[in-house]
Amino acid sequence: MKPVTCVMSLKLVNAKLWLETGVYEGGLVTENGAVSKIGKESRLPPAENIIDAGGKLVVPGLVDLHVHFREPGYTQKEDFASGTSAAAAGGVTTVLDEPNNKPVTGSAEALRVKQELVKDHSYVDYLFNMAVYADRLSEIRSAANIGVNVFAFFDELGDKPTGMKDTGVLYDALIRVEAVDGLALLNCRESDQVIHTIKQLKDAGKNTLQDYNNSFPHVAESVGAAKRILLAHSLGVRTHMREVSTAETVDVLRSLKPYMTDITAEVRPDHLFLNQENTEKLGPYGQQWTPIRTRKDQTALWEALNEGTVNIIASDHATHMVEEKRHGLGNIWNSPPGLPAIESMLPLLLNAVHEEKTTLDRIIQATSVNPAKRLGLYPRKGCIDIGSDADLVILDLEAEKKITADEMYAKSKWTPYEDWKTIGAPVTTILRGVPVYHEGEIVSKPLGQYISS
Ligand code: DOR
Repeated sequence: MKPVTCVMSLKLVNAKLWLETGVYEGGLVTENGAVSKIGKESRLPPAENIIDAGGKLVVPGLVDLHVHFREPGYTQKEDFASGTSAAAAGGVTTVLDEPNNKPVTGSAEALRVKQELVKDHSYVDYLFNMAVYADRLSEIRSAANIGVNVFAFFDELGDKPTGMKDTGVLYDALIRVEAVDGLALLNCRESDQVIHTIKQLKDAGKNTLQDYNNSFPHVAESVGAAKRILLAHSLGVRTHMREVSTAETVDVLRSLKPYMTDITAEVRPDHLFLNQENTEKLGPYGQQWTPIRTRKDQTALWEALNEGTVNIIASDHATHMVEEKRHGLGNIWNSPPGLPAIESMLPLLLNAVHEEKTTLDRIIQATSVNPAKRLGLYPRKGCIDIGSDADLVILDLEAEKKITADEMYAKSKWTPYEDWKTIGAPVTTILRGVPVYHEGEIVSKPLGQYISS
């Protein structure tokens, strides 16, 4: 497929289009990056670029609302060029990037700097969220004034406390997020208990991966989730609960469903596909925060996804280099938590569809439609319809692959899923009518655009 350097009109033919109304056999034409016509091929107007989908399924580009592309500050681990290339290779056409940069993206000025920094080397469209700090809550409105209204709540960033462990301060911050009609990204975590447990483990010289996995008690997650859902509900602030990982938290979400009218919840692929039996073998290469849980938790998460209690899948793509992870072999506290995830997410999910653990509709809802709606981008994103951005992924549902880091664009060059066999894979990823990725290759210039949220 010849590289394309600008947004030309595209005609996609011989496709099975995944529309909200069902799968439609035909094609579409784009104009200025948006879908302008959907219909049978004989009734489609001409276009500058033509792609024959070969009868394959075409779904809306994935929207990943939890990625760490490490720019600025840690570009040896990832940057926007490598991270967004990895996104395109995984069928992802829109990402929301995290603020744990160096310096942390915790102000309107830092957002402006980050936007300037990455603007010319992104292969997919992107948004930023801003980290919230107790000593600068006014930055919430400042960020909203420059078009950023997604706010990430961490307890500490770069070992510097944010002040958000204090419930009163968290409540005040949520009031301000609501005041700008913002979206609060909350972790399901009662930090005081986690910090207390980690200290106990370290003081006792416990430093294996299993000790690490035990450092975040299940009840600290379910209590943290319940508290934050009730706080958010009391204020009517739009909220997304991140990294749901245990059966107990799933039970909390079910019980508090009446309080979650505008509260969504995410599960990460590593919590769906890995459990502590795998991570025993993986060691620090299975070390992730929120930790990997048990097979019982994994089963509960699949049930939660399939019943809609958890309605978004987000990668939490968070790369670290092999030499950093190696430090964890002797003492797990010496290696950073985090896994590459964005390129393996879709093949693993399509394989789960093939194994009848879930359905294709459920996967597309959770990775594209619902995250687009959560970010207020639907139907521009997360949808194939007239006027929507022509963000499209051609899937080969029969493609038999083996996951290997050698073929990945992420800088980490390792994956916890090395040698895993999958059936189903993205073949071509198209961003606003331009093919960005095709059969293993990046085939466009970095045409990704910043999106105000
Ligand atoms: O394991 C993790 N690593 N979890 C996070 O929340 C942050 C991430 C990172 O940035 O490495």
